[in-house]
Amino acid sequence: MAITLHLTAAPAARRVPGTEIPCYVFESSRELARHVAHTIAGVIRERNSFGQKAVLGLPTGSTPLGIYRELIRLHREEGLDFAGVVTFNLDEYYGVPRDQLQSYHRWMHENFFQHVNVAPESIHIPDGTVPLDDVDEHCRRYEAAIERAGGIDVQLLGIGRNGHIGFNEPFSVRQSRTRLATLDPVTRKDAAADFFSEDNVPTQALTMGLGTILDARKVLLVALGEHKAGIIHEAVEGPLTDRVPASFLREHADAAVLVDDAAAGQLMGVATPWVLMPVEWTDPMIKRAVLWLSQQTGKALLKLDEQDFRDHNLHRLLRHHGPAQSLAHRVFRWMMDTIEYHPAGRDAKRVICFSPHPDDDVISMGGTLIRLVEDRHEVHVAYMTSGNIAVFDHDAQRIADLVVEFNRRFGIDVERSLDVEAQVNQALAGKTPGEPDTDTVLRIKALIRWSEAKAGAIVCGCREEHLHFLDLPFYRTGTIAKNPVGDDDVRIIRELLARVAPQQVYIAGDLSDPHGTHRTCAEAIIRALVEIEAETGSRPEVLLYRGAWQEWAPHEIDVAVPLSPRDLKQKKAAIFRHESQKDSALFPGPDTREFWQRAEDRNRHTADTYNQLGLPEYYAMEGFVRWSGETL
Ligand code: F6R
Repeated sequence: MAITLHLTAAPAARRVPGTEIPCYVFESSRELARHVAHTIAGVIRERNSFGQKAVLGLPTGSTPLGIYRELIRLHREEGLDFAGVVTFNLDEYYGVPRDQLQSYHRWMHENFFQHVNVAPESIHIPDGTVPLDDVDEHCRRYEAAIERAGGIDVQLLGIGRNGHIGFNEPFSVRQSRTRLATLDPVTRKDAAADFFSEDNVPTQALTMGLGTILDARKVLLVALGEHKAGIIHEAVEGPLTDRVPASFLREHADAAVLVDDAAAGQLMGVATPWVLMPVEWTDPMIKRAVLWLSQQTGKALLKLDEQDFRDHNLHRLLRHHGPAQSLAHRVFRWMMDTIEYHPAGRDAKRVICFSPHPDDDVISMGGTLIRLVEDRHEVHVAYMTSGNIAVFDHDAQRIADLVVEFNRRFGIDVERSLDVEAQVNQALAGKTPGEPDTDTVLRIKALIRWSEAKAGAIVCGCREEHLHFLDLPFYRTGTIAKNPVGDDDVRIIRELLARVAPQQVYIAGDLSDPHGTHRTCAEAIIRALVEIEAETGSRPEVLLYRGAWQEWAPHEIDVAVPLSPRDLKQKKAAIFRHESQKDSALFPGPDTREFWQRAEDRNRHTADTYNQLGLPEYYAMEGFVRWSGETL
């Protein structure tokens, strides 16, 4: 039976032009999740109305989380019935027992199955504990079960940074079926955070094959965040190749790619639409196109001529808004206006920087903090989470030892600290790789990061009484998986905003933090600001900075704060205070450089980009985007 999926009717989505496989961009990840959940609900209802079962192919990971949450809401609040649903999960780590924290079996139950009424016998997840000798038979039975269920109606997929779908890593065979597969180094690096170290990540996994996936009647591939933008571009617009397994989806008769703005960022129809078709020449579009042209030609803005425009498919722009000289001048002025030595102005203001983790403030806007303090503003920093899961065990151990010895040497009562130290020793000695910490160990780790945050902010000139440690509840799970934003998180932020009454607010507006903490923090602050605005009719100026992972593109930057060599040195000194994150961070993400190196490279790169555009030549720069009032 054909399945009706009304993707084109999605009000919040727009179709990306020029792609062979239908590709839809959603305004936000929330809209995307809502849409996919409602599409799946439609399939379930349609099947049920014919007395048939709906068969779903399901992934785990950070991408589908919002979709599962919305499906759970539909079940609870709108009576969506999963009794007639059969599910097949894509994959499972090999050698990982079902109840282990990292097992996909456990993940699926905690994040989905526990909250809906899929019959236990209708749930299928490859078993990562079958003995090696039985693996082939297990995989054959998995395939047979899919066939018996009548095949998969809707297969939901995420995508790895290397283009894997399921655990079909690069160079998987197009016809492959469910099997034991070896994990790619990129996949193991990306999974390192879940296993508390790359060394603990299994080397193999059971996965449905590419052939199994491509047999599904409908396939929806979902990707969120800038860190997926490159691979989405490759999978959708690059060559169809086994090097990028997701590119095979283009051969499927009914597959679609659903992305948020960030993940769509490198698709041609989004990044450079003028190359593909006539576009409406709004000011932002003109800015993008002319900056792009300057970068393509390697010429400074004011050196661009008519031929450059014609050679790069920009003759329509030239015709409607030319000549070249006036276009270049317009964009030059706009870019000049972004350069701001005094980001909060000259009159004393109250300013607050919200730092999702204890080091995002100095990594991402340490130079601006220095400038704001120098400009005599009252600079507050709010640390939203304790960041305690990112501290190595040996650091917690060292601090526990230090405190005991400190107490002993200074004649302070050592009994209680000895007791704490014994608890730490016991907890860490008995800890298996990847096991979450005890409360005592987590508290010590939080303390380490508290002391580093304080020291770092002080290097920037901030005052201790203006540092606020919010320890938001959504983060307090002790594991990588975090709760969604709750009313308590929003209340805590609102109370702080009421106390500080800032005229300017800085938020980490990047959506590419691998564990989603930045995204969640931004969501909580924006909810608080929207509520305040509804009550008071006003809101402070809000500037968005990028986290450790990426910088804004030049066309996005509204405010660029120049940094001198001395500013950058001081900023690096502030980052160095985060000793627990130095040398090698526990969760470095895919980038192997240290945080201070990334910050330096990125700030110098922004200045170089301005220089290449023919703007004033600075040593380094921090970029910000003004929040327009939309939800993220
Ligand atoms: C998970 C799976 C993987 C993920 C992919 C993206 O069951 O099959 O292919 O979908 O690695 O993971 P996230 O969503 O965490 O970025």
